[in-house]
Amino acid sequence: MDYITVEEALKKGAGKVNLRGWVYRIRMSNKFVFIVMRDHTDIIQCVVKAEDKKLFEEASKLTMESSLKVSGELKKDERAPTGYELGVSELEVVQIAEPFPITKDFSPEFLLDNRHLWIRSRKINAVLKIRHTVTGAIHGFFRSRGYYEFDAPIFQPNMSEGGSTLFEVKYFKDKVYLSQSWQLYAEAGIFSLGKIYNMSPTFRSEKSKTSRHLAEFWMAEMEAAWMKLDEVTEVAKDEIRFILKKVLENNRKELEILERDVSLIEKYAKEKYPTIKYAEALGLLNKTYKMDVPFGKDLRTIEEAKIAEHFKLPVVVTHYPTEIMGFYKPPNRENPKEALCFDMLAPEGYCEIIGGSERNLDIKDMENRLRKEGEDPKTYDWYLDLRRYGSAPHSGYGLGVERVVAWICGLDNIKDAIPFPRTMLRKTP
Ligand code: 4AD
Ligand code: MG
Repeated sequence: MDYITVEEALKKGAGKVNLRGWVYRIRMSNKFVFIVMRDHTDIIQCVVKAEDKKLFEEASKLTMESSLKVSGELKKDERAPTGYELGVSELEVVQIAEPFPITKDFSPEFLLDNRHLWIRSRKINAVLKIRHTVTGAIHGFFRSRGYYEFDAPIFQPNMSEGGSTLFEVKYFKDKVYLSQSWQLYAEAGIFSLGKIYNMSPTFRSEKSKTSRHLAEFWMAEMEAAWMKLDEVTEVAKDEIRFILKKVLENNRKELEILERDVSLIEKYAKEKYPTIKYAEALGLLNKTYKMDVPFGKDLRTIEEAKIAEHFKLPVVVTHYPTEIMGFYKPPNRENPKEALCFDMLAPEGYCEIIGGSERNLDIKDMENRLRKEGEDPKTYDWYLDLRRYGSAPHSGYGLGVERVVAWICGLDNIKDAIPFPRTMLRKTP
């Protein structure tokens, strides 16, 4: 028997079809059983009439999330949830589901406890399809621009983003850390491949319980030889617009299911994004918004949110204070108090989605800053070698995949942007 998907059936609109899927909703009366059936593509109403005694008996056994196969004639029906109805002529119950734990009135924590079941929901299904487009677009973007995919180890001997968020792992008789970033290895890779990118799991033992932090997330990073700050920020903007265009091409239906304002996504996909310096951002915050942020303080979420809301677009902020930046972010020669680095802040309260920089080429400066962070520069000798053997300017950045997905989907919490979230308080299922 040839089965088609629910989406294909809805497109076909008439004739006999065979479908298989799960009970999404079910309603019974003494005349009819209305089964709203779902598969990975959509939902469709199927009706079983009481006159068909055997069929009716079978259908009456069905429960929410039971698996089934049906055959029947399609017809247009304005009252059905997706505009068509299948008049069932054959029905095979594959499995009668036990009472499904997820009914109405559930708390976010309950849904996370039942994540293995909740990923079937229309909401998470839509998010995961958008995520699929986003990750596909990232590969497409870099490959179309001549970047090579380059992989780094997940077990790493060094920190790159600060010791406080490292996950330590027993490694035979020794210890290593789970990757906080692909970057340090990428800086070795560019001497072989020039322009490279990667997308991989990234680990941070974030003690914060925010709606924007995961302990395990996916970072999409790039690194390119010879590239300077003004160029790398433009690559980041192009990448975001490229991703948004792909989502608009492929996921209008999912955006609608998520009740996302598509006109905003269209705007972000089209317009140019501003770049401002950290010092200008402070001016804006302190003068226009009467806030009181001194130079040298990292921007907090409320401040980032204000900046992006001011422009109503993603904004690139450059030249953060060197003092509060990681050892690999170089001081600006003209003004060493500011570093040659940037963040991209997304509007609508989503804040930092990308972080990047030119890379520090000064061995002494890096050794000093590593010591200040309590690190032994000797452990970084392999990395410092990259400055000893044909050092060259280079830049790169990392994009938080879940941050971008959460923003595009308009999610309240980053946890819904990944199939099985990991946070300080959640390691199951
Ligand atoms: O700004 P971050 O820490 O930058 C780096 O790791 C650089 N080494 C990247 C590079 O230059 N190659 O992280 C990059 C991005 C952030 O902008 C954010 O979007 C995301 O990764 N991110 C997180 N996403 C979810 N949960 C967390 N705990 C995250 N930490 C960072
Ligand atoms: Mg950052």
